[in-house]
Amino acid sequence: MARIGILGATGYTGVEISMILERHPEAEVAFISSEASAGLNLSSVFPRLSGCRKVNALTLRKAQDCQSVSVDAVFSCLPHGASAEACLPFAVGGAAVVDLSADFRLRDPEDYPRWYGKPHPRPQSLADAVYCIPELHRSRLNGRKLVASPGCYPTSVLLPLVAILRAGLVGAGPIIADSKSGVSGAGRKATLEYSFCETNESLHAYKVGHNHQHLGEMRQEIAQWGAAPQLVFSPHLVPMQRGILSTLYVPLAVGATGAKVRAALEDTFRNEPFVKVLSEKDGLPATAHVAHSNRAHIAVSSLPDESMAVVVCVLDNLLKGAAGQAVQNWNAMAGLDETMGLTP
Ligand SMILES: NC(=O)c1ccc[n+]([C@@H]2O[C@H](COP(=O)([O-])OP(=O)(O)OC[C@H]3O[C@@H](n4cnc5c(N)ncnc54)[C@H](OP(=O)(O)O)[C@@H]3O)[C@@H](O)[C@H]2O)c1
Repeated sequence: MARIGILGATGYTGVEISMILERHPEAEVAFISSEASAGLNLSSVFPRLSGCRKVNALTLRKAQDCQSVSVDAVFSCLPHGASAEACLPFAVGGAAVVDLSADFRLRDPEDYPRWYGKPHPRPQSLADAVYCIPELHRSRLNGRKLVASPGCYPTSVLLPLVAILRAGLVGAGPIIADSKSGVSGAGRKATLEYSFCETNESLHAYKVGHNHQHLGEMRQEIAQWGAAPQLVFSPHLVPMQRGILSTLYVPLAVGATGAKVRAALEDTFRNEPFVKVLSEKDGLPATAHVAHSNRAHIAVSSLPDESMAVVVCVLDNLLKGAAGQAVQNWNAMAGLDETMGLTP
């Protein structure tokens, strides 16, 4: 049994990690952290976790007080900035670290202040980290100890887009990613913008075009195909608790067709238990189809003249977009079946 620490167990992604580890046969929980609720049980903050034996055997401790606990692996579910400070000592001590924050996603230290508005707290550590969506990048893990689990929006965009780029099917012109997210994507901290009366019965776009911080990691990951500056990304907040739906408008290369795009996606994900490429008969995906699972569903359509493919990807932002993918990454790092503890 591996001894696992959860930094930020009282956040939305930390709660999901706690629930996954409860049913994970190879994991025991060694610590859980919270600043605001230190001294309490997790079930007193989240009564729905009262059946989770592993986390409730422990008391929440401040992140600093967890540093002396001996662990094999740590999931860091802290905000960016705080995450690097808290999780790096564990990596230096030899534990496997999966960071759910943005702190280790960007390889170039110069990119971090551009997207996150302040210098990286430990820029020298970026070279030790690896960015990994397992279905696309698991060969990168290769004994690495520090994994940057990708963001929720980027997972929904990169899963299909990288597969299509790799197949050489993308033509000239901008690729447009139009994404909708449930409100839990912003985390549990209460702000006016995400309160019930501000979000219910309303839909709004934010940071459109080239402004959202997740564009940095998306452009980084597609740069090798020359498509990076061409990616336009517009996120939207929708009045639902969880889920992301991303629609990609992809200009096709001469000779490429929607059918070829679907075939490339099917080839890439044929043996992947968490990614389903829908057939024409299956129709289009919805966030409810993947809620509370670690799955992503992808559908393809194209314009009659085959000049553009329209690709729709849905996933649960808290699972395939965060905690589920983080555990999938750790399973792969630990040499376990990637599906262990996860609901396919
Ligand atoms: N939500 C998503 O859909 C999603 C998806 C992908 C990635 N992520 C990333 O995953 C991370 C966690 O997201 P979340 O949605 O779970 O956030 P959250 O709900 O706001 O939870 C944040 C957690 O971090 C703790 N915390 C906050 N500030 C801290 C500090 N300065 N030092 C130590 N602990 C601190 C909080 O503890 P207390 O409040 O109890 O003190 C809480 O446990 C973020 O970096 C986020 O960007 C989130």
